Formats: sequence, C-alpha cells, structure tokens
Amino acid sequence: MFKANIYTERREQLREKIKSGLILFLGNQESSMNYPGNTYPFRQDSSFLYFFGLDSPGLAGLIDVDENRSVLYGNDVDVEEVVWMGDQPLLKDRARQVGVKETYPLDKLEKILRQAIRKGRRIHFLPPYRPENCLKIEKLLGISSSLVPDYASEELIKAVVAQRLIKSKEEIEEIEKAHSLTYEMHTQAMKMAKAGVYEREIVGQMEGLVFSAGCLTAFPTILTINGQILHNHYHGNVLQKGRMVVNDSGAESSMHYAADITRTCPVDGKFSSPQKEVYKIVLNAQKTAIELMKPGIKFKDVHLKAAHTIASGLKELGLIKGNVDDAVKAGAHALFFPHGLGHPMGLDVHDMEDLGEKYVGYDETVKKSQQFGLAALRFAKPLKSGYVLTVEPGVYFIPKLIDKWKEDKKNTQFIDYQKVEKYRDFGGIRIEDDVLVTNEGARVLGKPIPKEVEEVEEITATE
Ligand code: GLY
Repeated sequence: MFKANIYTERREQLREKIKSGLILFLGNQESSMNYPGNTYPFRQDSSFLYFFGLDSPGLAGLIDVDENRSVLYGNDVDVEEVVWMGDQPLLKDRARQVGVKETYPLDKLEKILRQAIRKGRRIHFLPPYRPENCLKIEKLLGISSSLVPDYASEELIKAVVAQRLIKSKEEIEEIEKAHSLTYEMHTQAMKMAKAGVYEREIVGQMEGLVFSAGCLTAFPTILTINGQILHNHYHGNVLQKGRMVVNDSGAESSMHYAADITRTCPVDGKFSSPQKEVYKIVLNAQKTAIELMKPGIKFKDVHLKAAHTIASGLKELGLIKGNVDDAVKAGAHALFFPHGLGHPMGLDVHDMEDLGEKYVGYDETVKKSQQFGLAALRFAKPLKSGYVLTVEPGVYFIPKLIDKWKEDKKNTQFIDYQKVEKYRDFGGIRIEDDVLVTNEGARVLGKPIPKEVEEVEEITATE
C-alpha cells in the first residue's frame, strides 16, 4: 500500500471536484465458485483501492463532501472467524494506514445513507459491475437493482476517470514492478516455444512465476498457436514447427497495477519468409504509433496511422490494392486489423472499463465510429501527459471473416481476395507494449522484451 497521505490527497482531490453530497465506494466481497465457501481469488474493486487502499473483502468507504470527512465501514473478525482465519488486524488500525480516522461496523452504513436520503442529500456511486454490489446498493439506497446502473453519478464517474487516467510517479513504479514479472513470463514462454510442447505447459510455467511472486495475472492469459482468434483462452494445442505462438499476458503488481504485453514468436526459433514479412509490418506499425504519441494528439489518429502503416505493408505484399488512404478510409484494413490500437491501463488492465467507454475513451472532441474495426477502438480522445496506454497492432487472417467479406463483395476494390487465400492458414501476429505519455512524447514501460525479428528468433531458439 502507498503512504497514507497519498490516499488522503486522492480523496481530497476528488472531494473538490464534486459539488455536494456523499460519495459511496463499495469494496468487493468474496465471490463463490461452486459452493458458498469455495471462492475465486479475491480481487478488490479498483476505485476502492485507488481511494481507500485496503485490499480485503466486505468494506465500504464514504466521503462526506460537505462535512469533509472520510469514513470506512467494515466488520472486525469475531472469535469464530478467528478459528478459521486467524486473528486479523482491526479495521481502525488498517484505516489509519490509509489516512482514515473514523470507522464503523458495516450495519451502520444503511442507517447513515437512509438519513442522508431523507434530508435530500445526493449519494454518488459508481456503476456496479458485480451483481452482489448491485444488490447491496438496492438494499442500502432503496433503488431497484435493475435501475441501479441508471442512478450511478455521472459527476462522480467523470471526476474519477479524470483523476485515475493520470498516473503518478508512484503508480508508474508499480506498473513497472508488474512489468518485471511480465518480462520473466514472456522470456520464459519464448524459450519454451518448441515443437511438441503443449500451450498449457507454457501457461502453467508463466502463471507459476506470477503466483510464486505472490501476485495475480492481470487478465486470463491468451497463449495460442491460433493467434487469429483475438482472445483465445484455449490452451490445449501442441506447438508445431511452422506455426507461431501469440502470447498476450501480464502480471499485476502486489498492489494490483497491471502489465499487458503481447509477443509473437515462431515455434523452434525461425520465422518463415511470409511470417517474417507480416511480422515486420506489425512491428513497423507499432513503432510508428509509439513515435507519434505525445500530449494533444488524438489516440484515434494514432490508431489510424497504425492502420495506414499496416495497409501500406500489406499493399507491398499484394493483399491490399489501390490508394492506401482510400482503403483505410473505407475500413478495408480491418479485414486484417479488426481491433483498436490499445486501451488505457492501470489498476485495471482495461482501466476503468466498468465506468463506461464514453467517459474513459471518448469526449466532445471525438465520437465513436460505427465502422467495423474502428468501432472496436476503446480509447480515441487526445492524449495527456501521465496517461498509460497499450499499443497493440496486429495482423490476422480469420478464415470465416475472409469468406464473409468475399461473399459480400466487401471492399473488392481494395482487397485481392485471391492473394489473401494463400494466407488462409497463417494465423495471426500481435505485438503489444505499455506506453506512458510524457511531457515530451512517450516512453515504453518496463525492461524491453525481445521484439525485433533477430532478438525473437534468438531467444526462441535458446534451449
Ligand atoms: N491483453 C488482453 C486484453 O487487452 O483484453
């Protein structure tokens, strides 16, 4: 946990942005897997962590904007619980570690909130994404659970998004701790990418590194020889010579800051010529995009530049034809690059996706496009110093998508479908780094993980 003053300052900064009322942050509780007592690994809510720092279940934080007070609600363990869980530090002592002086048992929260409602005071809360918290808000505030998301406070969402998007020095250090572990995961995976190895063996080794460091993965690992499936969580294939492995994975630091890295490597250490050609196109698109990043530029324009670079490269291979500007405008490149260039990252791997893409990724200067490909862009607005975003272009050959576009005669003036057929079984390539926007431009976070062709081949060939 950070020092207490960091949490106090964060709450103070938030309080100044909210006109009046009470701000309620519900922490997460344990969530059952297959029977009540058998729970998933506990993961605290990220906004609760950001403002109240305590990483345990069953807590709620309340900021009284008008009275300038912060309060934590939660229950200390009783003797029966001590038998099973051991003694736990008292809430009042833990609260002090995050700069909170007032604590109460959880059952007092409902009374305080009901009193505030009777006085006509506004209760601000964020949209809950867990059913348990939706039901809790129903009980606490008397709002039908189906309507709870509609009553979330837009004023609070906007304030939290603005605050959490800008990462402080301490947060960057945490993200880079996650990168140290993620470096180990990826280099280990590359060394294991040999014919005859199961995907799941590599996943097991990588996740073992994370768990033995006392951390969690930031999201379910994507490791596959079928990289054309963007979020493939099946790990049962055997690696074969001639295929590539897409590894999109990352650890969280012990304070839950994420890393999210993708590398693509050839099985047994040697790209084929077509693989190398496409790999270089993706790498060029990624580097070009990172080069462009600086405060003020819209991330949508960075995405479009990456799309243009991919389309130009594919034109050289004969897969795209005609004028590249027109092809990108028509969205023809999205047959091969159907997703967005990246997303913000921090305490969540898709930072604050629970608060709504229209608040996190878009603003009055840039509206969401409905065009296939661009519609999947999670973040489009102008960059600011302190933002952390992933930059993850890719090129994929998705047989069903190719067939559909061909059948619909989509973008026939820009796509040579006959040539595309030759790549039908190619798979996919994605390369991803996490990038901090600085005053001057941008910096790739973490110790560099091999991504040049020669570096990737060398480490993949290592025994
Ligand atoms: N890296 C996985 C994701 O962005 O969802």
